[in-house]
Amino acid sequence: MKASSLYFSLASVFGAVAALDATSTYIVPTAPVDADVSIATNAVVSTAFDGPKVSAVNGSTFDWWYFDVVSAKASISLVFQTGTTASVGYPSVLELTNYIQVAGIWPNGTQFSVPFVPSGPAVVTTVGDGSSANFTGTGFSWTSTPNLSKYFITIDALETYGIKGTISFRSLAPAHYGLGSVADRSSSELLTPKLGWANAVPDAESHVDLIVGGEQLKFSGRGYHDKNWGSQALNDIVENWYWGHAAVGPYSIVFFDALDHNGVEYTAAYIAESGSPIKVGPTAIVRPFGDGITYPQTNSSIIPDGFNIVIDVGSRGVFEFNTTSRIIAETLDDGGYGYTRAQAHFVGGQVGGKKYTGYGLWDWQHFYQ
Ligand SMILES: *[C@@H]1O[C@H](CO)[C@@H](O)[C@H](O)[C@H]1NC(C)=O
Ligand SMILES: *[C@@H]1O[C@H](CO)[C@@H](O)[C@H](O)[C@H]1NC(C)=O
Ligand SMILES: *[C@@H]1O[C@H](CO)[C@@H](O)[C@H](O)[C@H]1NC(C)=O
Ligand SMILES: *[C@@H]1O[C@H](CO)[C@@H](O)[C@H](O)[C@H]1NC(C)=O
Ligand SMILES: *[C@@H]1O[C@H](CO)[C@@H](O)[C@H](O)[C@H]1NC(C)=O
Ligand SMILES: *[C@@H]1O[C@H](CO)[C@@H](O)[C@H](O)[C@H]1NC(C)=O
Repeated sequence: MKASSLYFSLASVFGAVAALDATSTYIVPTAPVDADVSIATNAVVSTAFDGPKVSAVNGSTFDWWYFDVVSAKASISLVFQTGTTASVGYPSVLELTNYIQVAGIWPNGTQFSVPFVPSGPAVVTTVGDGSSANFTGTGFSWTSTPNLSKYFITIDALETYGIKGTISFRSLAPAHYGLGSVADRSSSELLTPKLGWANAVPDAESHVDLIVGGEQLKFSGRGYHDKNWGSQALNDIVENWYWGHAAVGPYSIVFFDALDHNGVEYTAAYIAESGSPIKVGPTAIVRPFGDGITYPQTNSSIIPDGFNIVIDVGSRGVFEFNTTSRIIAETLDDGGYGYTRAQAHFVGGQVGGKKYTGYGLWDWQHFYQ
């Protein structure tokens, strides 16, 4: 096989005329190409919603598939990354482009993580809008249905990484891009001018059945799956972001509020009520609270206690949610560059209406100077 044929070609990502059940297979090699590449910016009828969004991995692109499940007590998050660690803000000697990260919280509130999982070539297959992937050599893979209704993660890495088992997702709310629904195949796929976002599963009924570090992690909760991508390193694109998802009463909510280095704010929100979207797109105003917290945040060593989230739902009025607890699942700060993910309880609903309670996950990504 020619070296270049190892890289999935631009034509196959953006040009193929695919029927709903058309299958395409992409192989993401373990070394970045030394070239300019292209990323998906606008939805296209013929390409998979949850497929690869970057024509090839170069030193600054990233394209990841993120999954989580959260309950009132426990959570787990998994990131299947294609892109170097430098592309997500952590310059390192690691030359590999494919890896997996897993972390979460036991039902008793104690944090856990799985060692960094470097991968061989990632084989990503799309059928219809769905994706399946085998991060070769790791024992980690997933499959989905063509219409995004179900995802299933299989992990077989007991001897290597101390983790084995399955995670299932049965979607409860339809997919969306940052600014448009899955049905709108003319929607922009961008959240900011250089950051793509496709949320295949905004909310799901999920079951986690794993062995982690010799102990059983078994719980049911609400699942979530999305992907982000970009052609520039994440730290160049974003100064700060707040993201989260939660199940609160009848509502499935997802929020994203990002600031670029010029102080320009980009936001998107999603609310489904009993599985029917009532909000897809701007705006979600997400503000941190806690001792010593200002907005915009500038001190990377102060982790927010939580967030106030205000979502304008047009004719349905304004919805407001607050997080009311915080258990840190993962946190890192490296000279102003950092990432924190936490599990939280939420309260809220339509302003002036009934307040509901629920739970979810949020994260804070920051690249301060
Ligand atoms: C990767 O491709 C993008 C888009 O063409 C380009 O802007 C960027 O400089 C490239 N990165 C590297 C390290 O070649
Ligand atoms: C919480 O549960 C995990 C998994 O059973 C266990 O390894 C850990 O020691 C527990 N933490 C505490 C503080 O009891
Ligand atoms: C993933 O690929 C490896 C290497 O080709 C293979 O041994 C393994 O069975 C595959 N796993 C799945 C779940 O298909
Ligand atoms: C999605 O596909 C699954 C099987 O792949 C099917 O059972 C289900 O009815 C489909 N859902 C919709 C809404 O078409
Ligand atoms: C940032 O916050 C920490 C913890 O409160 C504090 O010790 C430090 O002085 C603050 N840094 C700046 C630049 O304000
Ligand atoms: C969120 O918290 C703020 C500040 O405490 C409060 O004014 C507001 O009413 C709360 N909103 C909800 C939906 O609980």
